[in-house]
Amino acid sequence: MLRKTILQPTNMPIVETQRLRREFQAKKKVITALEDIDLQVEESVVFGLLGPNGAGKTTLIRILSTLLLPTSGKATVAGFDVAKEPEKIRPLINMASGAERAGYDFITARGNLWFFSQLYGVDSSVANRSIETLSAALRLENYLDSKLYTLSTGYRQRLTIARSLINDPRVVFLDEPTIGLDVMTAKSIREFLVSQAKDQKRTIFIATHNMAETEAICDRVAIIDSGRIVACDSPASLKKNFGAPATVMEVSPPLQSLQAISSVRGVKGATSAIDADRGVARLKLIVDDEGAVKAVGAIVESSGSKVLQSWMQEPSLEEVFISLIGRGFAERESEDAN
Ligand SMILES: Nc1ncnc2c1ncn2[C@@H]1O[C@H](COP(=O)(O)OP(=O)(O)OP(=O)(O)O)[C@@H](O)[C@H]1O
Ligand SMILES: [Mg+2]
Repeated sequence: MLRKTILQPTNMPIVETQRLRREFQAKKKVITALEDIDLQVEESVVFGLLGPNGAGKTTLIRILSTLLLPTSGKATVAGFDVAKEPEKIRPLINMASGAERAGYDFITARGNLWFFSQLYGVDSSVANRSIETLSAALRLENYLDSKLYTLSTGYRQRLTIARSLINDPRVVFLDEPTIGLDVMTAKSIREFLVSQAKDQKRTIFIATHNMAETEAICDRVAIIDSGRIVACDSPASLKKNFGAPATVMEVSPPLQSLQAISSVRGVKGATSAIDADRGVARLKLIVDDEGAVKAVGAIVESSGSKVLQSWMQEPSLEEVFISLIGRGFAERESEDAN
């Protein structure tokens, strides 16, 4: 692929925000979706924006891809201001969302890629070459001449990713790129995205609530919650600096509420996930006082449940999030739903 002329010194961050804020006027109140966001993203990295539902991920992606204006503060992409110079940014970027059903159903996959390449003014021979290269890398080649409506979710999503690269962007913003995909398809798309950053020197900016995805492929991760960045570093440093080992308790029957447990002295965070096959709950605790584990065990027993077994687990990004926020994604998301 032809690489566009580099328009800025290479040591500048490709994406930068300073005290970026975005408010939405809801019926009776103002919702602050983003508050004082300061970010710096270097070139050719896979950068993850990790946060639960409603954290502000899509809002930030929409601002950085010039679809939405900030309320205050500043954001630049390739050195250009998103509010003042969006037309200079647009040819250098692309954006796709795993949740959208983008494209034209009654046109072939190839026709769709061609159409989007022409919207970006890509030269015909370059566009044809890119369609071949991208579809080979994303294993789409056998479906190129199929109409879009005949493709499964996985292949549609591969096409969405191919479309997001058709203009050879320096930065691509992907909102939940592997949502709803089976494990193997998600894995192959992740590997493809890593190769895009490493081999094509592209910056891949991914918003996701998938912690394992972030841990597997991101060079750097910003953890976002309620519109604020609570930490930003490599997954390894985040785990080193914020991740405490967790105590996992298998509990049956599952508890009705985590409230009593979260308020035990020494419990920094607690989450619960149901193992539906076995009808048990996995209670994950981060404690800064060993006595707290015993106290939690007593609460479980007194509420009529049993602790079947318990063990220690090395920190992952989930433990980092629990340590920083005091609860897991599932708890945060169910609070939002209430
Ligand atoms: N157009 C809008 N009008 C009013 N409120 C909005 C609008 N867009 C987003 N919000 C609110 O801003 C906050 C952040 O939303 P956003 O969609 O950015 O979160 P998200 O991290 O992408 O969540 P999800 O994981 O569910 O996609 C939420 O409280 C949301 O309700
Ligand atoms: Mg979103």
